[in-house]
Amino acid sequence: AETHYHEFVIQTTPVTRVCRTVNIPTVNGQLPGPTVQARNGDSLAIRVINAARDNITIHWHGLRMLQNPWADGPEYVTQCPIQSGGSYTYRFTITGQEGTLWWHAHVGFLRATVYGAIIIYPRLGAHYPFPVPRREFLVHLGEWFDTDPVSLLRMMNFRGTPPNVSIAYTINGQPGDFYRCSSQDTVRVPVEPGETILLRIINSALEQELFFTVANHRMTVVGTDATYTKPFTTGIIMIGPGQTYDVLLTADQIPGRYYMAARAYESAQNNPFDNTTTTAILEYKSASCCNNRQFSTPILPALPRFNDTPTATAFTNGIRGLSQNNVFMNADVSLYFVVGLGLINCTNPNSPRCQGPNGTRFSSSMNNVSFVPPRTTSLMQAYYQGIPGVFTTDFPPVPPVPFNYTGNVPRGLWTPSRGTKLYKLKYGSRVQIVLQDTSIVSTEDHPMHLHGYDFFVVGSGFGNFNPATDTANFNLVDPPQRNTIGTPPGGWVAIRFVADNPGIWFMHCHIDSHLNWGFAMAFLVENGVGPSQTVIPPPADLPPC
Ligand code: C2O
Repeated sequence: AETHYHEFVIQTTPVTRVCRTVNIPTVNGQLPGPTVQARNGDSLAIRVINAARDNITIHWHGLRMLQNPWADGPEYVTQCPIQSGGSYTYRFTITGQEGTLWWHAHVGFLRATVYGAIIIYPRLGAHYPFPVPRREFLVHLGEWFDTDPVSLLRMMNFRGTPPNVSIAYTINGQPGDFYRCSSQDTVRVPVEPGETILLRIINSALEQELFFTVANHRMTVVGTDATYTKPFTTGIIMIGPGQTYDVLLTADQIPGRYYMAARAYESAQNNPFDNTTTTAILEYKSASCCNNRQFSTPILPALPRFNDTPTATAFTNGIRGLSQNNVFMNADVSLYFVVGLGLINCTNPNSPRCQGPNGTRFSSSMNNVSFVPPRTTSLMQAYYQGIPGVFTTDFPPVPPVPFNYTGNVPRGLWTPSRGTKLYKLKYGSRVQIVLQDTSIVSTEDHPMHLHGYDFFVVGSGFGNFNPATDTANFNLVDPPQRNTIGTPPGGWVAIRFVADNPGIWFMHCHIDSHLNWGFAMAFLVENGVGPSQTVIPPPADLPPC
């Protein structure tokens, strides 16, 4: 195994897209930032130097960080942010993970521009569980706003509504040739006729699940969130913010040019190609191909309608783990988290941020608790150093009162309380969580992400979760293993994992406006002997609070 060293300089960079130049925070001046490549078992040392104005942290989304929460990155959860002029070196080892993950800023909306890919190859001499592709390409989906992420968050806090529609969606930072001033830089993926390539697809969008498709071609999913899956062939992929898919694509069509395209799911629009879409071009390399007039214009794919939940569901349910992924039969801890939006009463209902019904403002919660991050230290430091008064461990294991979550929810349940509440898990316990979407304010797909773990997705459905009937149908044979899973709109999803990573681990909705509204909680995983026995000591350069 090797150690790879990187230097990430966070800097304010003028970047031009869709005819407009915006000064945004980047890593090393790049958008997306640099790709981190390693093999399973390798170590990384990534020095992050903050040469920009605003605080920053970097999260290595999906990496297990065994006994090493100090390298995880969410601000005020496992570390205080790296201040302007400061630096911090994230040191960690990749343990048993292979495939595609990504890294991103974990402060406010900064991940809108501070993000990049992580590619983990098999150990030297080891192989993929599928035929080796001739080539591979990154398809990193993102969003482009016409403002910098700090102003974007300020605007949301002022207006009280999320930055719903970005100016453009992007592939590898490029909107594609349906946008003004963009055709020159449209991403092109070259293929030889007949060859099979591996696409590593990542959704970094702040706010939207995306459908992804390639005109005339089918894709075979072979991995998700850096775990392998049973090969699953599909024309359409639905990918939530935070998720990744590795897919094989064979160039088996008439040599020519074909668009690959993504469109926002659950966006309010349904025009064929508008600012809820992005495109790149799959381009066959062959003499006859592209001089041929027939193919001077790439072929367009059909995208599902923005509200096509059946297509989204069929895709997600088609993803199965390799059968050796056997999950435990009985859980030691069974949790039921209702998740969704909520409303907070405003003292001054005329304030611009009070855009909710009857002069309320939007909020988010899990089990009716809206997460408030600490401000003077991080949860992990408070825990490690025994600083009292920073958090409590009374996060409710079930909703405060039972109700019809997807029906007409009583108004009294619309108002979450605020707190910094953790849920304590005994090290080694077998945990089941059912995440239930509520119809408070709206029903919506919430991509839920757990730090420090991969979990098995053992079941999902629409309506209210019914333990008596739904549990019997759980897939305990070949559930996929992932770190981010959508809670279906007006439905539920059940996950299982063994609490084998001590420390404090954040769980939250990966829609950034929701996260900033408090759609989060954290687990404290411990075995009673104290963190100094189970977690590595904090690095000397951990940023001061
Ligand atoms: Cu990708 Cu807590 O985030």
